Amino acid sequence: MYRTKKPRIALCAVVFVSLLVSLPCLALDWKETEDQKLERMQWWTEARFGMFIHWGLYAEAARHEWVKNAEQMSNEQYQKYFDFFNPDLFNPKEWAKAAKEAGMKYFVITTKHHEGFCLFDSKFTDYKATKTPYGKDLIKPMVEAFRAEGLKVGFYYSLIDWHHPDFTIDSVQPIRNNQEEREKNKDRDMNKYREYLYNQVHELLTEYGPIDCLFLDFSYPGSDGKGCNDWQSEKLLDMIRKIQPNIIVNDRLDLLDVPGGWDFRTPEQFVPFEWVKMDGKRVPWETCQTFSGSWGYHRDENTWKSVRQLLVLLIETVSKGGNLLLNVGPTARGCFDDRAMERLQGLGDWMKFNSRAIYGCTQAPDEYKAPNNTLFTYNASTHRLYVHVLEWPMGQLHLPGLAGKVKYAQLLHDASEVRFTSRQDWQSAYESVPQNVLTLDLPVLQPNTEIPVVELILN
Ligand code: GLC
Repeated sequence: MYRTKKPRIALCAVVFVSLLVSLPCLALDWKETEDQKLERMQWWTEARFGMFIHWGLYAEAARHEWVKNAEQMSNEQYQKYFDFFNPDLFNPKEWAKAAKEAGMKYFVITTKHHEGFCLFDSKFTDYKATKTPYGKDLIKPMVEAFRAEGLKVGFYYSLIDWHHPDFTIDSVQPIRNNQEEREKNKDRDMNKYREYLYNQVHELLTEYGPIDCLFLDFSYPGSDGKGCNDWQSEKLLDMIRKIQPNIIVNDRLDLLDVPGGWDFRTPEQFVPFEWVKMDGKRVPWETCQTFSGSWGYHRDENTWKSVRQLLVLLIETVSKGGNLLLNVGPTARGCFDDRAMERLQGLGDWMKFNSRAIYGCTQAPDEYKAPNNTLFTYNASTHRLYVHVLEWPMGQLHLPGLAGKVKYAQLLHDASEVRFTSRQDWQSAYESVPQNVLTLDLPVLQPNTEIPVVELILN
């Protein structure tokens, strides 16, 4: 009797646990109409361009922020980075100035990345900047400096924690292959970790003033992963929205199916084919991208995108209704390195004269189709269409669908008039041109700006 009962209990337990794991995450205590959401997100939608900052102990290893994972390091092996962390040249005012001059309107800083190290002076751990040789909180002065430059403040917080003793070992853990540690999983208590996670998010949302956006990273549900049941995502999100009802939250809590479970989608390191949709409907989205192949400072990584590529990235993103969050990985001395500065300056040179084609802009109405080698952005409130000319044509640029629609046209960077004709006015017998083509008369020489923009003021 006794003997047969045991497997049954075990079976029930397995069924119960797997039910729990596959349980859909459902209810959220958050009601908002679509218009209210649009309003809450308005500054973000208009901003279009932000700076991501990945900074942590991994800046010292200088070979990717996942170095602890990639090299399967234990906490002990990783400890040297904590013991020697001393970013003596850290001056957040310089960072904020660089972001502002590049044309960025908000920033998102890794308050804690997967390694578990906290840049902020958390009450709930000693694994933080104030306990390193540097000895000071990094987040407060950073928030102040960026706010002073007029940028909105975003916090990245890693749901994952490769340092916390109660975070159970799973497939993405640095010590995932250490069987002995895996067996000790039963001594780890995710309830305790969750309490820590909630406490820290609470701290971040109560001690630094209004936080404009929150980037929680990330979920990987499955038998050897973690998802909404592990984080109890609905509860966490309810807490977040209760503390800061205006905050804008990303989509990595594993609540994609839950109404109100996310504010915007986050395609990472790629530009989607078209405006991101959910259930056939366009949704807010932000692509996060690196300058090179790493988020954290990577000394020897050389696939740095050119200023021109980054500009196209920004323009293309906006042309599909999205935001671009472009990442800098500061060094362990506390500086943006030369390669990053050069790109930020290049972006700023262009933005200084062309930001009107970015801020407050979005995808052009479907009736306007960008011809080859151009991208369109559109400002619905000023009713202006921006033609970003990627390949400078020889003299003329033909724009189908726009004849009769344009009141005035100018090059954006110097406000010099661009004259235009309706194609059929002077069309000869050489070709059959659709009625509605508008032809811009452009100078033969490309103006001295990386990507010239023609501003069309529509009727
Ligand atoms: C990924 C990576 C991470 C990076 C993030 C940015 O989730 O784990 O290193 O912080 O993407 O979106």
